[in-house]
Amino acid sequence: MAHVAILGGGPGGYVAAVRARQLGADVTLVEMDALGGTCLNRGCIPSKALLRSAELIRLAQHLDEFGVEAEFKHVNWPQVIQRKNQVVSHVVKGIEYLMNQNGIRVMEGRGRLADARTIVVDTGGREETITADKVVLATGSVSARLPLPGFDGPGVVTSAELLDIERIPESLTIIGGGYVGVEFADIFSAAGSKVTIIEMLSRIVPTEDEEIAAELARAFRRRGIATHVNARVMEIVEKDGRRLVRFSKDEKEYEVEAEVVLSAVGRWPNTEDVGLQEAGIEMDGRSIKVGVRMETSLPGVYGCGDAVGGIMLAHVASAEGKVAAANALGQQIEMAYSAIPSVIYTHPEIGSTGLTEAQAQAKGVDVKVGKFHFRGSGKATAEGEREGLVKIVVDAASGKILGGQICGPHATDLIHEIVLAVSVGATAQQVGDMVHAHPTLMEPIMEAAEDALGRAIHK
Ligand code: NAI
Repeated sequence: MAHVAILGGGPGGYVAAVRARQLGADVTLVEMDALGGTCLNRGCIPSKALLRSAELIRLAQHLDEFGVEAEFKHVNWPQVIQRKNQVVSHVVKGIEYLMNQNGIRVMEGRGRLADARTIVVDTGGREETITADKVVLATGSVSARLPLPGFDGPGVVTSAELLDIERIPESLTIIGGGYVGVEFADIFSAAGSKVTIIEMLSRIVPTEDEEIAAELARAFRRRGIATHVNARVMEIVEKDGRRLVRFSKDEKEYEVEAEVVLSAVGRWPNTEDVGLQEAGIEMDGRSIKVGVRMETSLPGVYGCGDAVGGIMLAHVASAEGKVAAANALGQQIEMAYSAIPSVIYTHPEIGSTGLTEAQAQAKGVDVKVGKFHFRGSGKATAEGEREGLVKIVVDAASGKILGGQICGPHATDLIHEIVLAVSVGATAQQVGDMVHAHPTLMEPIMEAAEDALGRAIHK
């Protein structure tokens, strides 16, 4: 039986472990912290637990709109944090159970690659050596730090630290308007903090379609979240126990004062001190270089997840982990990136996949774009969730759907209809002709597909 050793137990590593077992291998998974990695312990899952509380806080303040007379008293933050911790421990226990059920040997400790077949694990003072036929590197990522004055001072935190903050800060300045920045802006603004976002590029969520990003910016503005775009942070200074963030914009200098500053300027692959270069693994900057079969420059050693850079999302890590495990055990499969969903859990939510209109145009593809606003949907209106729209990008020549973007209620779930369409090469006509139940939040996808053909009914 082949022995596969996996370094890192996040969504890349633990999924690779299960797949390798399913394919008949003996598997050892090395993890120095809790199973589930950043996503389960300090990322996706705890932030979603807090976002759920944020959603309920907002709803509780508008219950009268729905004919429910109830008094909103206050936010019990310790309970919010306690529930978040329970959610995390529940999900982590689930992964432990999964490893157990699958007969995966989990070794606690910090592992280093010694050579293509050997991992040395420091299990707290003692060193153990694992010899394997194949190795999968899934060491994840760490929060990036700007090398600017004041970023390592007190009161400047990463998202992991903010998830455990003991009380709601009266004011929060967020540096970076990417995924982490906007989700935390949503949470803390609902909790009552005065939130300011400082973003270097020309809009928040700059990787999203312009019109979709503008919808979120509008919703944030209505909720009193201040946003400075095209703004370059210079330094953070401490003044009377508070933080002053100094930034420049249009050649002028500004400052925002806050109790707490969140640094959310991206993540770096966690590839230092893992013995990679020494073992002969070729790198691409901080990322492990891999091919489409997830194999590194060392034959028999594979990589997946944030450690290999590219699209640094948990579900991409898991997909890459499955591809890595399958190839390690004799299959020949390639990782496909054309229909990856990207999801942001703000209110309204954002979901997107494939090409945006601008990306298609930049590639010289002639496209038709269909749109449908949720305000035209009966279900969205009944739910009191009329913000946002669906956009579908269609290849003018073949009619195939190349991508789609949704900003609105349940966008993170709805996007999967478009993910399926892009994956299988479905046309706008096929999606437009598919009968969608009424009244549902999926109907706007059908309408947007029909709109691309110039025949939406409810527009
Ligand atoms: P990000 O790359 O999404 O966003 C960082 C933002 O900071 C960018 O908009 C960038 O323009 C801005 N920025 C960079 N330097 C700056 C500076 N000096 N001043 C002002 N702005 C600056 O990274 P983020 O938000 O930290 O997220 C980290 C990782 O976690 C990402 O890989 C993301 O994909 C993942 N993530 C995914 C979520 C989801 O799928 N819902 C939620 C949260 C994180």
